[in-house]
Amino acid sequence: MEEKIIYSAAQPSGNLTIGNYVGAIRNWVRLQSEYRCFFAIADMHAITVKQEPAELRRHTLELAALYLACGLDPSRCVLYVQSQVPQHAELCWVLNTVTYVGEMERMTQFKDKSRRHADNINMGLMDYPVLMAADILLYQTDYVPVGVDQTQHVEIARDIALRFNNRYSETFRLPQALIVKNGAKIMSLQEPEKKMSKSDENPNAFVSLLDDRDTVLRKFRRAVTDSDNRIVSEEGRAGISNLLAIYCAFANCTLQEAEKTFEGRGYGEFKTAVGETVANVLAPVQAEQKRLLADRKYLDGILAEGAETARRAAQRTLSKVYRKVGFYRGE
Ligand code: TRP
Repeated sequence: MEEKIIYSAAQPSGNLTIGNYVGAIRNWVRLQSEYRCFFAIADMHAITVKQEPAELRRHTLELAALYLACGLDPSRCVLYVQSQVPQHAELCWVLNTVTYVGEMERMTQFKDKSRRHADNINMGLMDYPVLMAADILLYQTDYVPVGVDQTQHVEIARDIALRFNNRYSETFRLPQALIVKNGAKIMSLQEPEKKMSKSDENPNAFVSLLDDRDTVLRKFRRAVTDSDNRIVSEEGRAGISNLLAIYCAFANCTLQEAEKTFEGRGYGEFKTAVGETVANVLAPVQAEQKRLLADRKYLDGILAEGAETARRAAQRTLSKVYRKVGFYRGE
């Protein structure tokens, strides 16, 4: 049977949290042994909101190093920077012509970002889902592992693909979102009813993958809990339930095992244990990222190779598209 293709990407917009690690990166690492995987750093998506150019460049490199440090293996997946593969912008243009303004205006994230960046509602922001469709469709992707907030974008990519296929004949494989369901949705440490977010104003609400040991321990010690004293995951006890979920995700154990481990222990001891468990997982990742960032030649080589492989794969689809829409390619 033909190998299934996986595509995903993340924006290089600064620090990732332990939520991104558990919900995305760690799953990508698992997927690379079973599928043909393409993982991109979506810098072209990133500039739809204002970016400091030097920071964007630095974040791009840091994210590449972080992915490798987390276990993405360039011999088993294609890791590249989106802007190094011009086919993304080229396919986006063609797909724009089978996408309606009205449907883009109705996208949840567009409406959201328009509200948050009211002074910068640029065309790129509105076109964001079409560029994302181009990302996905260029590689004849079967599955797109994403968080729930991105499923609407994957559905629109599927709609666009279907519309193109109907208008011009079968061209794109129809992609499907692959929702990561390990139950470990990681919530804010300060308001545990809210998702953990790297853009939270309160830095104590999230743990960055780059936080040092002391910071991790401090943030967990300050995590909001309740006045009960039993360490069990229960409805209405978001704080403790979240800490238990984080512990399980980082200690690789079940909820039952975790509850048993902490039976009869105090909150203080528990929070320290969660912090230590997380810090112990992060330490080697951070050390490896640092080592990689000091070896620019190696990193650049990996990214150049990834971009080359991606361009070759992408061009196969783009050539087909250009032929179908009637672009003249010479005799
Ligand atoms: N929009 C995604 C996010 O912010 C990133 C992304 C860009 C992406 N292109 C993609 C995700 C293609 C999956 C597939 O998380």
